[in-house]
Amino acid sequence: MLATLWIILLSSTFGKCLDNGLAKTPPMGWLSWERFRCNTDCVNDPDNCISEQLFQTMTDIVVADGYASVGYEYINIDDCWLEKHRSHDGKLVADRKRFPNGIKALSDYIHSRGLKFGIYEDYGNYTCAGYPGIIGYEEKDALQFADWNVDYVKLDGCYALPYDMDHGYSTFGRLLNSTGKSMVYSCSWPVYQIYAGIQPNYSAIQTHCNLWRNYDDIQDSWASVENIIDYYGNNQDVIAPNAGPGHWNDPDMLIIGNFGLSYEQAKTQFAIWSILAAPLLMSVDLRTIRPQFKHILQNRKIIAVDQDPLGIQGRRIYKHKGIEIWSRPIGPLYQNFYSYAIAFVNRRTDGTPSDISVTLKELGLINFSGYRVEDLYENVDYGVLYPNTKIKVKVNPSGVVMLKGEVQYPVTCKCNMFVEIAYDNII
Ligand code: GLA
Repeated sequence: MLATLWIILLSSTFGKCLDNGLAKTPPMGWLSWERFRCNTDCVNDPDNCISEQLFQTMTDIVVADGYASVGYEYINIDDCWLEKHRSHDGKLVADRKRFPNGIKALSDYIHSRGLKFGIYEDYGNYTCAGYPGIIGYEEKDALQFADWNVDYVKLDGCYALPYDMDHGYSTFGRLLNSTGKSMVYSCSWPVYQIYAGIQPNYSAIQTHCNLWRNYDDIQDSWASVENIIDYYGNNQDVIAPNAGPGHWNDPDMLIIGNFGLSYEQAKTQFAIWSILAAPLLMSVDLRTIRPQFKHILQNRKIIAVDQDPLGIQGRRIYKHKGIEIWSRPIGPLYQNFYSYAIAFVNRRTDGTPSDISVTLKELGLINFSGYRVEDLYENVDYGVLYPNTKIKVKVNPSGVVMLKGEVQYPVTCKCNMFVEIAYDNII
């Protein structure tokens, strides 16, 4: 039944989509907002204010500390980079004190380190923090971004009319494309429409945007991460089919390594974001991040799930009494059988791990030749298991166990084989 469900869901993912050739897998990088907010006080807090120095420093660390080599490539400015007024000829101007060398110099710096550069603007009259928005200057601003060699534009939707967004966001996307400079286009179009009670036209959104926010801003707490996880689970029938190469749902930034998440919770955020085929945009102080969190952010096997080229967004397939199972079809494929990433999440608050026992078949893994099963956090290879194999995992409170089942090709027929193995996840 699960297999049939996937086939139905997959068929609805094929449609018209944005053709800028970018974001074939979800974008990965660093974004200032969640951690550094709108701190403009460079006098009293020079190391943490929104300034060219902050972005240069993060660029250096992304390269030097191994983030770039696992796939993080965008260094993205968020709100509060602008002067409060445009120039006399209507151009956007970066804050002269905090970006003394201007945006082009910062863009050049980031490019010279082998990374890509992202910027933030807003479709409305103002950005959410009150800086000039693009309305009335769309063409000028698109050309300006191209001129600055911007690779990624996040266009927010404060101080704008949600009913106008179908027109406004698509127009600006076309303007970006017509500059001739390819720029990833991150939209906040659906989230503002949902707030206004409008059902977003996701087929239009995926035609014009590479990624889009569907829900609330992430905050530095487990409650916020849980809220987002619930939103994506509860609304998956509407949301998940819209994702695919070049067009992604964006559940917002990774807050791993900040103040609000425990180690277990941080692992859970990373696992679920990878199941959701989410953009992996770290918003954390990379100068002071603890090694255990860095380790999570650099887990190549989970990044590979997120970046799976098939680009099929996963789903919550089980939810009962605080236990959830999330599953994502990934490559390689054998005939119609996918491989899978499976995340077992424990949302309970008992202070002891919970056991989850399930057969592969119950997870939808029904290929008779079996699956090579691996624990992606513990790095344990459990060998080839079969549809009737029962597995047992122990999941820590607010934690996750993440497995990958790689589909096996038949070598000899094992069609009648019945294997029952129980194993404990080693924690
Ligand atoms: C909105 C967005 C956030 C951030 C802020 C900046 O709230 O959703 O991601 O960009 O604006 O003001």
